Amino acid sequence: MSGDVLVVIGAGGMGMAIARRCGSGSLVVLADIGEVSSALADEAYDIRTHHVDVSDPASVAALAKAAAELGRVQSVVHTAGVSPVQSPADRVIGVDLVGTAHVIDAFGAVIAPGRAAVVISSMAGHLTGGLPAGDEAAIAGAGAADLAVLPCVRAAADGDPGLAYAFAKAAVSVLVRAAAQPWGRRGARINAISPGVIDTTMGQAELDGPSGDFMRTMVDASGVGRPGTPDDIAAAAEFLLGPGAAFITGADLLVDGGVVAAVRSGQLG
Ligand SMILES: NC(=O)c1ccc[n+]([C@@H]2O[C@H](COP(=O)([O-])OP(=O)(O)OC[C@H]3O[C@@H](n4cnc5c(N)ncnc54)[C@H](O)[C@@H]3O)[C@@H](O)[C@H]2O)c1
Repeated sequence: MSGDVLVVIGAGGMGMAIARRCGSGSLVVLADIGEVSSALADEAYDIRTHHVDVSDPASVAALAKAAAELGRVQSVVHTAGVSPVQSPADRVIGVDLVGTAHVIDAFGAVIAPGRAAVVISSMAGHLTGGLPAGDEAAIAGAGAADLAVLPCVRAAADGDPGLAYAFAKAAVSVLVRAAAQPWGRRGARINAISPGVIDTTMGQAELDGPSGDFMRTMVDASGVGRPGTPDDIAAAAEFLLGPGAAFITGADLLVDGGVVAAVRSGQLG
């Protein structure tokens, strides 16, 4: 075992920006189901890559074990995900919701005391206005292994991919709220970030898809009036992982340029 380890799960647009912003001075474990770019290694970051499929609990457990063997797991950022134009509803649920539960479970057992994790949710979860109280209670009380068989989760997995995505992301916020207390018993914190439209491969795929015009309208109506950059999300992650957020856990930070504010206050135009 050596020094401090930052684990970034999902080495796409946000994951690479977070690794670049938060990874200097740490050993950075970049984990993804696909190939990981060598860009950060080329910039002298200390990088290890690891193959992981977050929808597979054994794969996530192996990643957590490997990270813990490399050093103190100081920070975990879970960005792996699929969007509704990329995957059918059951895969959206399996990766974005159940996969996040596997990550919270596996890394809750190895995170260093006093340290923190961030999982990426979405403004899509906030646009639904929240889950019914009964669904929220069932999700909060289910272990990762039981989540997929809850009636509300099965219904989402059998439905429209866009609705499944919004459901999954709203449910991720529930998982984070439910995890705050057990993580606190280890002296650790966990929070979510809900990004708006961010200029990554996934964000571009959504803008090019059937909801693209609506997304552009929402961005135009927002307070900031532009899509986000991956580094806008990395800045929020850096804050939530750091000492300035010592009193923040179980929270979901909306980083959307004001899109949800515009929609929910009736100012979409
Ligand atoms: N880009 C946006 O506009 C936007 C908006 C809101 C929320 N989000 C969320 O932000 C997160 C990061 O998205 P991004 O924009 O960086 O997307 P991205 O497509 O650039 O990166 C996602 C990464 O996740 C990996 N991945 C997919 N399935 C996986 C699996 N089963 N196991 C391990 N890795 C897997 C992909 O290979 C990819 O590298 C996602 O959870 C996404 O839902 C994105």
